[in-house]
Amino acid sequence: MEIEELSGFAKRAGFFWPAADIYGGVSGIFDYGHNGAMVKRRFEQLWLSYFVLRNQDYHLIDGSTILPEKPLVASGHAERFNDIIVGCSKCKSYFRADVMLSDMGIEVHDGATADEIEGIIKDKGVRCPKCSGELMEPKAFNMMIDVSLGPERADRGYLRPETAQSSYMNFFREFSITRKKLPMGLAVIGRAYRNEISPRQGLFRLRELTQAELQIFFDPEKFDGECGELEGRKMFVALYPSTKEAEISSEELVAKGIPKFYVWHMELIDKFYYEVLGVPRGRFRFFEKGGNDKAFYNKVHMDLEVMVESWGGFKEVGGLHYRGDYDLTAHTKGSKQDLSVSVDGRRFMPNVLELSFGVDRNIWMLVDVFLKKEGERSVLSLPMGLAPYDVAVFPLQGSGDLEAKAREIASAIGSRFRVFFDRSGSIGKRYARMDEIGTPMCITVDFDTIDEKSDKHNTATVRMRDDRSQERVGVDKLEGYISKKLALS
Ligand code: GAP
Repeated sequence: MEIEELSGFAKRAGFFWPAADIYGGVSGIFDYGHNGAMVKRRFEQLWLSYFVLRNQDYHLIDGSTILPEKPLVASGHAERFNDIIVGCSKCKSYFRADVMLSDMGIEVHDGATADEIEGIIKDKGVRCPKCSGELMEPKAFNMMIDVSLGPERADRGYLRPETAQSSYMNFFREFSITRKKLPMGLAVIGRAYRNEISPRQGLFRLRELTQAELQIFFDPEKFDGECGELEGRKMFVALYPSTKEAEISSEELVAKGIPKFYVWHMELIDKFYYEVLGVPRGRFRFFEKGGNDKAFYNKVHMDLEVMVESWGGFKEVGGLHYRGDYDLTAHTKGSKQDLSVSVDGRRFMPNVLELSFGVDRNIWMLVDVFLKKEGERSVLSLPMGLAPYDVAVFPLQGSGDLEAKAREIASAIGSRFRVFFDRSGSIGKRYARMDEIGTPMCITVDFDTIDEKSDKHNTATVRMRDDRSQERVGVDKLEGYISKKLALS
């Protein structure tokens, strides 16, 4: 699917589009419409249930999105959360250097410095992609968005660049409240802000984004034994320095020196993408970062990448980062509060394993993977629990007793499921509208449903989105039938 096709679908079907588009839109900032907002909320809920709520020592917290300067100096963001930008001396356009070079077929590693970029520009004779003018000296550009607070706007702060900092800053308080046990997980689902220079990639490069991040604080001497046994899954992994994935078993990964607890969490993520979201095997992979591409504080860093056809390749949608004790040590120094813990008579700085996902990127990815054209029909075969509606209810004709019965059914099941009611247009068109936004089931009320003499009295037709199969189900059995179908999906 082409980008324009996906963006066109997203607008037409009430999913997402550039914010303030009646004023011409704004780069890197998007709104979700009524269907997209439901899919996003349901994805977040699914992520929360799967990664956080199943473990009673993991908790959801809700940190502020405005942070004072000090913690972001301590975390290293004020100094190092930079992109290298380059401006044109003639047309005054600015570009993110790696994106500009990559668009010209010149690949640059993630952590490339301004000097390295300058060397490449000189070597290759690169000029402005817009006007062929001479490029200025590349420079580091901090991506945080600053805010000034107070009546004289004298207090400097930032919109948080990642949700993770709230978990680090609240670690010690939560550790104390929750009876001083490790491992302990703190998750945040919420907005983060980055002043991206070239945000031209739909939901993949946003200035206001939503992250779902879980920070697991643990004792590095014990976590291998505490996390559980490996299932022995075979997963697609590109191990540094290779950039090509191969199927590798969990045991092989451990034999290659990746900590067992890390591999256990790779299995967890693999199950989420394959079994829960239904992304086909081979369409997603772990991609290990190493050398200059890996942040210096990460001991092991793998991106979770999905083949996104609209962007023509594998794209990062999440990551698993073994961050060692970097974060708590940094905040201990910055805040002058000792964040080390004493467990079983041993004092140490807990280590952090971070499971980090971009919610918006996952929403785009889901549409990319599950939106299919079947002849004239468009079907969004989302996992059932993620669709904006669980079920639609239609009277065959939109008036009189048929409509009354259909409304009665819709209101009876409406307290448990999200129901779409539609009384107008041909049944075929009504099915097509529901297929396109991913509604897994449609219930049609026809004359037999209300005819007391019919052997189909008080039954309705349930038609499934994916295979278009139809089944007659008793009206009093509908609630159980829908629950079963949703649970089995
Ligand atoms: N706490 C770690 C952290 O923030 P990151 O790789 O910078 O790591 C986490 O961001 C996730 O947020 C990424 O995996 C990606 O999916 C998403 N993300 C990052 N920048 C983004 C952007 N500009 N637009 C949309 N999603 C983004």
